[in-house]
Amino acid sequence: MILWYGGKQSGSDSSKSDGIFLKTDASESLPLLVDKWREKIQLIYLDPPFFTGKKFSFRQKIGKEGWQGSSKHIISHQAYADVWDSRESFLDMLQEVLTLSHQLLKPEGSMFLHLDYRFSAHARLMMDKIFGESNFLNEIVWAYQTGGRTKRYFSRKHDTILFYRKSDEHYFNADEVGKPRGTLKRNNMKKQIGEDGRVFWSIRSNGKEYRYYEDSKVYPSDVWDDISHLHQKDPERTGYDTQKPEALMERILLSASRPGDWIGDFFAGSGTTPAVAQKNGRKWIAMDMSKFSIHVCRKRLLQSSEAKFFCFSDPKLKAQKYEDNNDVEIKITKSNEKTMEVQLLSYQCEPLSEFDYKFFDYIDYWSIGYIRDNEFFSYQETYRSAENPYLKNVLVVGVDKADAEKELACHIIDIYGKQLLLIL
Ligand SMILES: C[S@@+](CC[C@H](N)C(=O)[O-])C[C@H]1O[C@@H](n2cnc3c(N)ncnc32)[C@H](O)[C@@H]1O
Repeated sequence: MILWYGGKQSGSDSSKSDGIFLKTDASESLPLLVDKWREKIQLIYLDPPFFTGKKFSFRQKIGKEGWQGSSKHIISHQAYADVWDSRESFLDMLQEVLTLSHQLLKPEGSMFLHLDYRFSAHARLMMDKIFGESNFLNEIVWAYQTGGRTKRYFSRKHDTILFYRKSDEHYFNADEVGKPRGTLKRNNMKKQIGEDGRVFWSIRSNGKEYRYYEDSKVYPSDVWDDISHLHQKDPERTGYDTQKPEALMERILLSASRPGDWIGDFFAGSGTTPAVAQKNGRKWIAMDMSKFSIHVCRKRLLQSSEAKFFCFSDPKLKAQKYEDNNDVEIKITKSNEKTMEVQLLSYQCEPLSEFDYKFFDYIDYWSIGYIRDNEFFSYQETYRSAENPYLKNVLVVGVDKADAEKELACHIIDIYGKQLLLIL
C-alpha cells in the first residue's frame, strides 16, 4: 500500500505530495526507489528493531469506552516481531538499508541511526565504512529514567543515536535547538550589564574574561537527558510499542533540516517522524512493514491542526462492488442538488465475546471518497481518537465528486486492522 499525503490532486505524482507512506519491507523497496530519490533527502532518521528477540504490540482501543480511557476495552495485536534467525540476518538487513539510505541523502544531508547497547558498536563500524570515518559527527546518548533497575550490573538507561553527515557540506543549525540561557543565578560568576544593555554573567580564567549573555542560547551536547521516554498515560501515546517522543525527533529534525526539505524514516512505527515533519513544514517519506503502522500514522496526521488530504493505492486491497459485499450496509440519500449523505447502517466482522459490542464499535475509521485510476482519494473521513471517541455514522459528500470517471467509494478500517474498499 502507498499512501500519499497533501496536494489534493497528487496521486502517484509524488513530487506534488507532502508525504508518502509505503507499507513495505524497507530492504525490498529501497532498491526500487533509489534511482528516483537519489540525493533528494536531507535527513534520514532510522529507528530499526534493536535485536531484542521480543514481539511488540499495538493496543487498539475499542469504541467510545476504549477511547475514553477504559483499559478493559482494548484489543492487543502484534505490531511487529523483533525476532531474527541469526545476528547475520539482522546485520544484513541493516547493511542494506544503511547503504541505500546513504545514496538517497543530499550532499548536505545527514543520517541519525537509533540503536541501543546491543548493536550500536557494530553499526558504528558499518556506518564508518558506508559514510567514511570523517563523516561521523556524534554518538548521541539519549538517557532516560524509565523501567526497573537491576542489582547485577549498572542498569542500561540509554539509547545511542549515531549521527553521520553525507559530506562536509552538511547543513546543521544549532540555533534551532538551543535553549535560552535565562536569568538563573550562577555561582562564582558576576552579573553585569554591557554597554549595549544586555545582561551577562562573567568569569575570569587564565587572565581571560568569559561572558555568558542571558539572552544567548545554550546548545545541547551529545548527552540528551532532558527528554523523557513516553509515560504510560502520555497523551502522545498511540498504543504502538516502541514509540519515540516527538521532542526527540524535533531536536533532530530542527537541527539538521530546513522547512520544505524531504525527511526519510524507513522504520516509521507509530509515525513520529511524519507527525513532527508535518508540524514543522517538512515533507516526508516513510516506510513500515506493519499494517498497524500506516493506520496509526494516518490517524495521527489527521488529528493535527495542519491535517491535509490523503490518497492511497493498494494492489492487495481489491475494490469490491457494494452490491457484491455481504459485510456492510450503506444508505445513500441526496440531501440537495450539490451534496449527498452516506450512512453506515451495519458492519459485520468476527465478534468479541467479552462485551456486547454494537457493529459501530468494531469500526475505527471510515471514509468516503472516490477511486480514479486505482487510487482512492479520501474526501471526508471520521475516526476515533482520545479527543473525539465518537465516530460519525453519516458522511456528506459533494455530488460533483461522484461523476463518471470518479467512482464514489467507501473505505473502512476495523479494530482488527482489516480494510474494505467498496465502490458505491
Ligand atoms: C522501533 S520501531 C519504530 C518506532 C518509531 N520510531 C516510532 O516512534 O513509533 C521499528 C519499526 O520497524 C518496523 N520494521 C521492522 N523491520 C522492517 C523492515 N525490514 N522494513 C520496514 N519496516 C520494518 C517495525 O514494524 C516497527 O514498526
